[in-house]
Amino acid sequence: MTYEAAKKLLEKNGQADVLRFWNKLGKASRAALLKQIATIDFKELARCKAMLPTFAPAAAAAAKGPAPKAPKVAELTGAKLAEAIAAGEKEFKAGRVGVLLVAGGQGSRLGFEGPKGAYPIGPVSDLPLFYFHARKVLAKTLKYGKPVPFYVMTSEANNAATVACFKEHDWFGLDPKNVFFFTQGMWPGMTDDGRIILDRPDHVFMSPDGHGGLLAALKASGALADMKKRGIRDVFFFQVDNPLVDIADEAFIGHHALQASDYTLKLCAKRDPFEKVGMPMLFGKTCKMVEYTEMTEEQCLRKDKDGRLYFLFGSPAIHVFDRAFLEREAAKAMPLHLAHKKIARVDDKGSVVKPTEPNGWKFEKFIFDILSDAKRTAFLAFDSADEFAPVKNAEGNDSPATCKAALQAKWRRQLAARGVTIQGDATIEVDPAGML
Ligand code: UD1
Repeated sequence: MTYEAAKKLLEKNGQADVLRFWNKLGKASRAALLKQIATIDFKELARCKAMLPTFAPAAAAAAKGPAPKAPKVAELTGAKLAEAIAAGEKEFKAGRVGVLLVAGGQGSRLGFEGPKGAYPIGPVSDLPLFYFHARKVLAKTLKYGKPVPFYVMTSEANNAATVACFKEHDWFGLDPKNVFFFTQGMWPGMTDDGRIILDRPDHVFMSPDGHGGLLAALKASGALADMKKRGIRDVFFFQVDNPLVDIADEAFIGHHALQASDYTLKLCAKRDPFEKVGMPMLFGKTCKMVEYTEMTEEQCLRKDKDGRLYFLFGSPAIHVFDRAFLEREAAKAMPLHLAHKKIARVDDKGSVVKPTEPNGWKFEKFIFDILSDAKRTAFLAFDSADEFAPVKNAEGNDSPATCKAALQAKWRRQLAARGVTIQGDATIEVDPAGML
């Protein structure tokens, strides 16, 4: 992009300020700034701007409309479980299952420099989160003798380090031909009055576009086309922070296939009424994910006639998508969520000023917003002790310590089911690729 083209584009969109330090910039800085401007989608930017409270004062829309209800959640046992497992096995044997990981986040909340997936969670080996995920994908490949492609979404901040982590560990035993990295998009932040923010004289402040950026990134990178070429139909989705997850377990895949569902969710009973998990709710016939931050106290505490929480089942973000549904959704604009944040920016002299109060807006898309577009949905309950122990905080709840304890307990249960008893309380570690 030339300077003239950038100037024209910015002026047309009311963002000419972005070039205000142009005359003071060196050659390399100018080139970098032009390159960054070329990545901005001004149509999407206009959508972000229209959402700012200054432009669209928060409507009480959420409070209107039908009162939400809890969806019907299946709990599979006996013959139903066997039927689902058989259907799942059929999908694997036909090579129709792919695995999709969102790993754009950094480990900063854990005090860890680098991609969250590189965080050393192995209780004995210190192997990274990626190891436990990749070895489960390998287990499925070995079990069925069919490639199970692994699609990994990274962000600009961690793509190189993520690829390096896979290479350093010899792709964790996977065939690199079946591992597909793709990078999510970045969006400029905005001031309260809708202006793009410079955090350096030659640099626009940008942040990742949320895990909902997945759809645009899947399409732009060719990953969606790759899925189609390979004949993938069931796309198993999970988040990088949960090494307990059963990747693409047959019952879940099979339930999705039997229901001919567009979007199937695993749900688990909340461990406490205020647990920080999203909650699918039915608004009339439409199902939506309501984030924990959006739930009222009354909704969190409401009981059913048996005294159980009415909104009991939360989402650990473990899903299966129909590939064709993802294709349809990738062609549409997703809803936007905005957050007021402290964003360092340059003053008129070009010096960086760090704010003490939130002073600007970041925009994100959430993948679960496509739930309301799904024609067919299905919900499956499972035990969180078996599948959900995310690493989110350095200490306390959802920390490496609680996650490692959950891993120990799960591995002991798995080994016991195979007739192996562990004496004493020694710390153990299991290679998921050995658990076919
Ligand atoms: C998320 C879900 C919540 C769910 C919970 C389960 C949201 C808004 N909420 O909460 O409904 O119950 O997980 O653990 O997602 N990521 C990217 N790119 C981004 C942002 C995030 O790839 O731009 C990835 C992260 O690497 C991570 C996942 O998305 O794997 C979740 O992000 P996180 O910010 O940790 O979500 P939570 O607030 O914990």
